[in-house]
Amino acid sequence: MKIGVYPGTFDPITNGHLDLIRRSLHIFDRVIVAVAPNPKKQPLFDIHERVAMIKEATRDLPYVEVEIFEGLLAEYMKRKGVHAIIRGLRAISDFEHEFMMALLNRKLDSDVETVFLMPSEEYSYITSSAIKEVASYGGLLKDFVPPVVARRLREQFQKKQK
Ligand code: COA
Repeated sequence: MKIGVYPGTFDPITNGHLDLIRRSLHIFDRVIVAVAPNPKKQPLFDIHERVAMIKEATRDLPYVEVEIFEGLLAEYMKRKGVHAIIRGLRAISDFEHEFMMALLNRKLDSDVETVFLMPSEEYSYITSSAIKEVASYGGLLKDFVPPVVARRLREQFQKKQK
């Protein structure tokens, strides 16, 4: 069985991430979405909430699992016995950072390869931070994130305004 790990912070998951998960299922029999706590990014949503939103958004995809991973991604890959990391390359600007991460992960675990997929151009400009900014000003979210995320973003920013 071919298994791929799609790691990220997912604060929150967007339609761009979902597009990549769906594309991954053309290549892998199972995809594990591995959610990093990543406190240095000061996430808006706590890790359990990020996981819950991903689970809800991928409910129609039976071969997708969602897990939390702490520490180094390479160590997590070893523990799982999985060799493929899935990452998206949205634009040339992603390349340098992704190239560095792929080489670093391969140095830490020589059995690991990173597979890059190109998201649909419709989502190529989306980042989680940009979506949070749109939400903070009350902008329309439905084209960018699944309904569960749009609802939780609205609740978060209404709470902050009170
Ligand atoms: N569609 C929409 N948005 C996407 C996307 C896609 N296809 N692909 C990436 N993004 C967004 C992300 O949401 C994120 O947005 P943000 O910065 O506004 O939050 C941004 O693009 C990319 O962020 P980046 O920091 O590159 O990745 P990440 O937050 O998704 O995940 C980890 C990074 C968790 C994979 C990485 O930090 C990691 O492996 N950490 C564990 C520690 C470790 O092993 N370190 C050594 C390896 S570097």
